Amino acid sequence: MAKILVTGGCGYIGAHTIVDLLENGFDVISVDDNSRSTKYLLDGVEKITGKRVKNYKVDLKDYNDTRAVFQENEDISGIIHFAAYKAVGESVEEPLMYFENNLFSLINLLKCVDEFNISHFVFSSSCTVYGSPDTLPVTEQSPIKKAESPYGATKQMGEEILTSYVAASSAKAILLRYFNPVGAHPSILIGELPLGKPANLVPAITQTAIGKIPEMQVWGTDYDTRDGSCIRDYIHVSDIAHAHTLALQYLIDDNNKTSCDIFNLGTGNGVSVLEAIKTFEEVSGEKLNYKLGPRRPGDVVAIYANNDLAKNTLRWDIKYDLKEMMRTAWAWEQKVKEDETIIKNQKFLYN
Ligand code: WQD
Repeated sequence: MAKILVTGGCGYIGAHTIVDLLENGFDVISVDDNSRSTKYLLDGVEKITGKRVKNYKVDLKDYNDTRAVFQENEDISGIIHFAAYKAVGESVEEPLMYFENNLFSLINLLKCVDEFNISHFVFSSSCTVYGSPDTLPVTEQSPIKKAESPYGATKQMGEEILTSYVAASSAKAILLRYFNPVGAHPSILIGELPLGKPANLVPAITQTAIGKIPEMQVWGTDYDTRDGSCIRDYIHVSDIAHAHTLALQYLIDDNNKTSCDIFNLGTGNGVSVLEAIKTFEEVSGEKLNYKLGPRRPGDVVAIYANNDLAKNTLRWDIKYDLKEMMRTAWAWEQKVKEDETIIKNQKFLYN
């Protein structure tokens, strides 16, 4: 049973991916410093799979602590690297914190990949690397434009660092460029736990609907789109998770075309903010309290994926549609509201 090291395993996409890896016969360990997470989601993973995943509470910026994990686990055959800060707005206010955290962590990991001869590395990248695309949908060959934020710059630099490393080594990597991951595992035992007031659309919708946020804003309705609001490619987090398992198996089976293959992970459907809200209202039966506000600086007007490569090469089938994304997101928000473990944990209360 191949052992996979998942960094950021206590986080939203990390925990969902661990469920999928375990269900597909992999053995998993997690490395997560819990600076922006707790063990709560790994508890949910255990409820879903019956397996307890060990988390090493290690800051990947600490090389010696990171190396010790590899010394203790000589049988790691692959790494999926999620651990990174990812709030676009925060990255504008704290650029050095983002460059230090997101890049030093990756470089320390790759030093360990080198020393311990790890063969397979899957990197959590983002559609953010495309900036504001000239043509839609974006393919993996679409030009990489100037990043709209330091966060986006760390994803572009992360791709560069990884591409250069694997070209000079025997290791092989895959870059997975996510579009907008949303929703919760169908069991409703794991989901997104935003720290503080959510910046992202779907948690903002569900927290407004549940009453945590009195009223949300639609950031801009004067864009050149069909209804004036921004367009994104929302993709269920469990579909994103399964793509990681497929990507890892693709590397293990030596099917990669280059030392660093790239795949877009989106549905290929562009959905506007107002359309997303309408779908949520239909699915939940709730009337959402929102108002039409000004544009949010740095927002891309429209972006959605051409996902042919992932579908045809990784044999990736998308299981969940927008209604299911909204249904699971809403069911998770309702569960969180009742969960004492979360309510009393200061990490999840926002100011
Ligand atoms: C989507 C749309 C907002 C909140 C995110 C992550 C980024 C990357 C890509 C992983 C925009 C609008 C939002 C609200 C709103 N993910 N909105 N009111 O900006 O596409 O980027 O996905 O790498 O890390 O930030 O997603 O959900 O923040 O915004 O109107 O209260 O919803 O203006 O048009 P975004 P988002």
